Amino acid sequence: MAIRLFDFLASLSGALDLMSPEVVGHHKRVAYIAARLSRRLDAPGAERADLFTAALLHDVGGFSRQSRLAALSFESDGGRHAELGYRLLRTNPLLRGAALIVRRHHTPFIRFRELDEPRRKLFLAGVLNLADRVDVLTFRQERIDPAQVLARLTPRAGEQFDPAATEALSTLAGEADFWEPLSTPDPVAALTDDAALFRSQGMTRAQLAQASKAFSQIIDFRSRFTATHSRGVAECAVCLGEKTGLSSGDLTAMRLAGDLHDLGKLAVPSEIIDKPGPLDEAEKKIMRSHPEVSEGILSRIPGLEKVAAWTSQHHEQPGGGGYPHHISGTQMVHGSRIMAAADVFTALREDRPYRAGLDLPRVTAILDDMVRENAQDKDMVGLVKENLAELDERRIMAQAHAAEDFRAFYSGLSPAAPGARD
Ligand SMILES: [Fe+2]
Ligand SMILES: [Fe+2]
Ligand SMILES: [Fe+2]
Repeated sequence: MAIRLFDFLASLSGALDLMSPEVVGHHKRVAYIAARLSRRLDAPGAERADLFTAALLHDVGGFSRQSRLAALSFESDGGRHAELGYRLLRTNPLLRGAALIVRRHHTPFIRFRELDEPRRKLFLAGVLNLADRVDVLTFRQERIDPAQVLARLTPRAGEQFDPAATEALSTLAGEADFWEPLSTPDPVAALTDDAALFRSQGMTRAQLAQASKAFSQIIDFRSRFTATHSRGVAECAVCLGEKTGLSSGDLTAMRLAGDLHDLGKLAVPSEIIDKPGPLDEAEKKIMRSHPEVSEGILSRIPGLEKVAAWTSQHHEQPGGGGYPHHISGTQMVHGSRIMAAADVFTALREDRPYRAGLDLPRVTAILDDMVRENAQDKDMVGLVKENLAELDERRIMAQAHAAEDFRAFYSGLSPAAPGARD
């Protein structure tokens, strides 16, 4: 699996934008603006790469539609989503360089001097802050008026914005080729000079595993009910994959598929994920779109074709009664039968808002029922039962680690303001 970091981050950042039509394309546009600014400011290549990564993911801590929209309002202080974004990225070796930048992307420039944080990270955060506000002021405008943009932003140089960054923007704003890419679906594609730097960096297998773990947390940590789910599914899927004799390359792909199978839930607002009562028809439709959304995102990453296919079918059933495509057993690929069994097994063992986790005899009885109803693959359930103790032990360990990460993620953080949600 030869995966490029850029392909991975750019596709996943697109997933973050799916939550509401208001923000579609925001991350990529901000990444484009930040890249142009940092080049103009002669930032070294490594810094520009960190800033670009930070820009692609900067609102990752905005978990609900409501907080996403708040982050887009011009005067947003955005403190909480920036801190949550920082916490999601900081433990990951690949994303650590971007984490401090994300943390301060709404902090006014004037407050930087009080902070005991690396000066260059703060500088880059200032560039990101400005890039973000440029997009907020201009997105969905039919004709961008550069003079108007500058009139809103430059008076706040030295207070809200870094004066050097603001000056760089003033120069860029006068250049003919600066604004045009912002009205295209993929402004990042216009970064020809930076293409080599940003686009060519490959990922090792270990880095890919780290990045997919980070994204499993982004998916899971949005709700305390799902906080450890993907990591449990990934461990069960790998365990079952080993028992069916998958190659080591396929086992790596299986862990990725487990980590990312619910990726499409990023497009489902937490207002729906955390809804205490049953979902209405419209909400159900949004919720049930998640495997297709996962597939749409993952299939655009060259090298992850298998992961995309396995992920897209994880709610399908051998009898055709699953979703989203209602395909039948013969059309389900082997990997997705593993995913489907791992997903159901993990879900039944977990506590849910409406019930505690079920004990093993109850879980196997339900799986047997599902086989009778053609809702689970017979051989796969056989494999689960044959390896029940090992499977469950590994799941418990994986989810215990994930629970520790979840506690660390929210530790010391004040609860969300009344009425606001993460
Ligand atoms: Fe933000
Ligand atoms: Fe933003
Ligand atoms: Fe799912």
